[in-house]
Amino acid sequence: QIKGFVFDLDGVIADTSIYHSKAWRQLAEELGVTWTTELSNNLKGVSRMDSLNLILKAGGKESAYTEEEKEHYATEKNTNYLNLLKDMDASAILPGINDFIEDLKRHDYKLSLASASKNSPLVLEQLGLAKYFEKRVDPATLKHGKPDPEIFARGAEILGLKPEECVGIEDATAGIKSINGASELSIGIGDPKILNEADINFTDTSKLTLENIKQALK
Ligand code: BG6
Ligand code: MG
Repeated sequence: QIKGFVFDLDGVIADTSIYHSKAWRQLAEELGVTWTTELSNNLKGVSRMDSLNLILKAGGKESAYTEEEKEHYATEKNTNYLNLLKDMDASAILPGINDFIEDLKRHDYKLSLASASKNSPLVLEQLGLAKYFEKRVDPATLKHGKPDPEIFARGAEILGLKPEECVGIEDATAGIKSINGASELSIGIGDPKILNEADINFTDTSKLTLENIKQALK
């Protein structure tokens, strides 16, 4: 029986994944790495340093920089990302998400956040959703980022629930792998061809309702 929902943030709750992509693209081009849709999709859900490493690898530059230089570039990307976030407010919440969260609360489901982003507390504040996600996995405390199951396993643990009692919601391939690895029910938001490992798929958040989930499970 399902008792809890573990949410990704960027690209599920808010359309901030666009800003992450924009900021990464800017850095990739500065480093002379060609930006592709594939690269963009592979970066989704992946931690800051892992993302930079994926970009460098895509450009065949994995050993071109020292750790210190990489820290510098990661910080530069984050500064650009924060700049893009500056004027963001509740209007960045994706369609249907407010209603879905309200409905979950009404039915006494527990909610937690499993975002890889160190900026997630700030983003939740700006969106006005911090009060719904008091339970959060702190990505700084993880040994392994997505696609490793650790973050979604912890998302269930902090709710006092077993993984089988939880649903994980993700827009990233790496995130779906993490949910599946943690033995939770996975819901993919986005292109079903890309998120083909998800147990349930909705093309966008407006379809994410308890009713549609029940239908999909029949
Ligand atoms: C994930 C995003 O939620 O967080 C990634 O999908 C991002 O694009 C990752 O790289 C880490 O975010 P941050 O804010 O800690 O750099
Ligand atoms: Mg995401």
